[in-house]
Formats: sequence, C-alpha cells, structure tokens
Amino acid sequence: MYYIGIDVGTSAVKLLLMNENGGIERIVSKDYPIYFPKPGWSEQDPEDWYVQTVIGLKELISGIEKEEVEGIGFGGQMHGLVVLDENDNIIRPAILWNDSRTAGETVYLNKVIGEDKLFEYTGNIAFAGFTAPKLLWMRKHEPENFKRISRIMLPKDYIIYKLTGVHASDPSDASGTLFYDVKNKCWSGKMMDICGIREEQLPAVYQSYEVVGTLKEDLSSELSLNKDVKVVAGAGDNAAAAVGTGTVAEGSCNVSLGTSGTIFIPSSEFRADRNSALHFFAHAAGNYHLMGVVLSAASCNKWWMEDILKTADFAGEQENISSLGKNHVYFLPYLMGERSPHNDPDARGAFIGLTMETTRKDMTLAMMEGVAFAIRDSYEVAKSLGIMVEKTKMCGGGAKSHLWRRILSNVLNLKVEIPEVEEGPAMGGAMLAAVGCGKYESVEDIAQGIVRVKETVEPDPEIASLYNERYETFRSIYPSMKGLFKAMRA
Ligand code: XUL
Repeated sequence: MYYIGIDVGTSAVKLLLMNENGGIERIVSKDYPIYFPKPGWSEQDPEDWYVQTVIGLKELISGIEKEEVEGIGFGGQMHGLVVLDENDNIIRPAILWNDSRTAGETVYLNKVIGEDKLFEYTGNIAFAGFTAPKLLWMRKHEPENFKRISRIMLPKDYIIYKLTGVHASDPSDASGTLFYDVKNKCWSGKMMDICGIREEQLPAVYQSYEVVGTLKEDLSSELSLNKDVKVVAGAGDNAAAAVGTGTVAEGSCNVSLGTSGTIFIPSSEFRADRNSALHFFAHAAGNYHLMGVVLSAASCNKWWMEDILKTADFAGEQENISSLGKNHVYFLPYLMGERSPHNDPDARGAFIGLTMETTRKDMTLAMMEGVAFAIRDSYEVAKSLGIMVEKTKMCGGGAKSHLWRRILSNVLNLKVEIPEVEEGPAMGGAMLAAVGCGKYESVEDIAQGIVRVKETVEPDPEIASLYNERYETFRSIYPSMKGLFKAMRA
C-alpha cells in the first residue's frame, strides 16, 4: 500500500509517496509565488496551492499501481488566514504566518484584553503571525470582506476542503489560531467573541491521524485514484515535521530550518510557558509541545545567496569555512521581524562587527551562526522551564548543509541527528495517513518503527565553549537595538 504526504509549504507544495514500510518511492515539489504587497505584508493565493497540489499529485503517482494508494495526510504552513464566502469563493488572498501588518492588533490583544486572559483562554499570548490578530485586522480594515466570511480555515485545511468537501482541521494547527483552547482541545468561546466570529464558521477539529473523508468523486477520477482513498486531518508543518523525524515523545527534540526555523519539544502534559516566550500547542500524537519560532531561517540563506551574493551555488559559498567559534561578525536574522522569544514585528536584520578584514566567508558564516543563535534563544527558555534534552533531530532545507549541522550542534551543545528522510512535514503527513488507515497502531508506533537516522553530528567541546562566549554577545545585541528598531519604524 502507498501513503501520500502533502506539505503545503510557503515556497512550494512538497508531495511524498511512502510505501507501507516507510520507504520513500518518490518526492515532488511544485513552487508558487509569495506576494509582499506592502512592507511587512505576506500573502499567497490559496488557488495556487490547490492547482500546484493537483499537478504535483499527478506527477507523484504517475506509473504506479493507483489502487495501491490508500491514504493522504498533510503538513502545512501554520496560522495563515484563508476565508471563503457562502459560495466557497476565496474572499481575499491568504494572510501568512510571517505577515506583520497586525502589530497593532497584537498589542490590543496582549495589552487591552490582557496576556493573562489570553493565556487562560488559549495557553498562549498573541503574536503578530497568529490567526486571531489577522481576523481583527480584517474586521477593522476590510469590514465588507469580514461580513462575507462563511468559512475560516488554515492553509492545509483549504486543500483538505478542496479534496474532500469537509471543513476540517486538527489540534496542532488549530492551536496556532489563538482561538483554540489548547488545554481543553476545543474552540474558545471567549476568543470567538473577541474576534467577532461564530463556531459554525470554524472547521471541525479531528485528531491529526483521524480520517475526515474521502476524495471527491470528480477528483478521484481525474487522478485515476480509488474514490475511497482516505484523507486524514494532518498537522501544522512543525508538528508534522516532528512526526516525520520521530519527535513524538517527551525527551525528544527537533530543529527545523525551513523558511522559518523552529525548535520543537514534545510534552506529555499541559505545561505552558507562563511568560509565553515559547508557544504551547497540541501535538499530532494527542499530546502537547513547546515551540520556539525564528521567522527567517533558511530564508536568510536564500536571501544572502540569491539576492545579495547573486549566486545559486549555496554549497560552494559554504566550502572551506572552518573558523567555527572564531568569527568576529554577528548577524541578527530578523529579516521579517522576530517571533520567539522577542515577539517584535519591528525587529530587523543586521550585520554587526564588520572591519576592513571582514570577508565574504565571514559574513556567510555569521548569517548561519545568527540563525543558530536565534534557535538557542528559544532553547534557553526551554531550559529555564526545566526541560532537558540530550540530542535533537534536524530537518528542513537548512539540514542539507553539513556546515549548518556542525554550527547548530556546537551552538546548542547537543548531538544532532539527521534522519534519512529530510522532508519532515511531508513524511509526517504520509505517516499520519498510514496510522489513519490502520496500518500502524499509533503515531508513536510508526515513528519508532520507520524513522531512521543517517548521520549524527557531535559537538566539539572546544568549539562549543567558544560559541558559548559568542552567544553571550549575540544575546546582548537585540536589547541594545530594540529602541532603534522601534524608532526606525516610526
Ligand atoms: C510556526 C510558524 C512557521 C510556519 C512555517 O509557528 O509560524 O513555522 O508554520 O510554515
């Protein structure tokens, strides 16, 4: 039997075909554009996601025994606001997770409604990227559009809706809306009132591995798939990536370096961070997780290589960089503002410490180190909550870089394990489908059964100690620039 994982990402939709033993048969990726119509705004057309998903699906399953396809599961960029009217028309482009137009609404939620109340209702406070501030923004700036809303959904949920006709979501993705009560795993009545929305506009929440429906008839015949192919709810991309890398039980950890960078730590109990520097969300296996989010991670590398250095040879630029722990240049990766732990949409990127001796390689290294230090910021918060991990998995585009693997291992002073399959969220989606179809008993069961590590990177005590010192300098840079960022925005 085959299981398909679909990751509705920010730069592309990634599709993966997995056999029942966890072997990868094929991976397909289809790009789509992202629009930045104003500074700090970030939008996509949900129709692009769907069109590319269908094109990708056709390519993924071409030449295989179609009746062997049993289930489809998802990962998807989180927090994005997709709104449909009563005729299922898309009302406006989706407002994405890295859009910071909602700075004012975020301040309103945290200061006027109050962080204590938000924490009580949801287990989290407001961040600009979350879905609730986007709805408040729409209510204020596009009242006519707001009135037309019949269905509210998250990016992967739009694809589920198009594939099955079922308006569904899952607890991990619902957690990132800020109108979901993470502790009690239900929509929060108080938050719906605050946002001016009603429960019938929201999707039904299924477990990530639960079957929500089957493929629509016209689509199954267009794809030549059985019409009883089961579609499971899937998970937000970080929870799906955690499943895909086997990061399911307490004590495990996953760092993903994709467009965003995240550190993801499962928890068996409700153990929200009272200061809310880290998010506390539901996990795809029925448990919970803590998560720190760096808004620009592998995207810093893409920006630096393509837009600034004008090269496509990412590996070539990183070759022969060996001065780990000894760089005099620092980089703040806040190209789209920053989420964890600063919660500051006004924060901006910066190179600091440049001299006449600074080389292109020093700046490339600083960019990669800056992302790793930003991940460490969240790891330090987790440690302050008493959470201890001994090693971490690593996935996402950034995990392909041997240099980034070494930097991360030494900056965190943790053993870093690289799973055989680096496409975390798509792999996780396929695994959730296999569980939903009854091939495996539980998410933990499949994670233990099929996830294999292909490489382990150990920290070097000397380099880790040099990075420890440099991290102290790194963490002092943002507080000294915070006021400046605010003034620059004004
Ligand atoms: C998580 C977050 C990002 C997106 C990226 O809170 O905003 O990791 O999910 O796709």
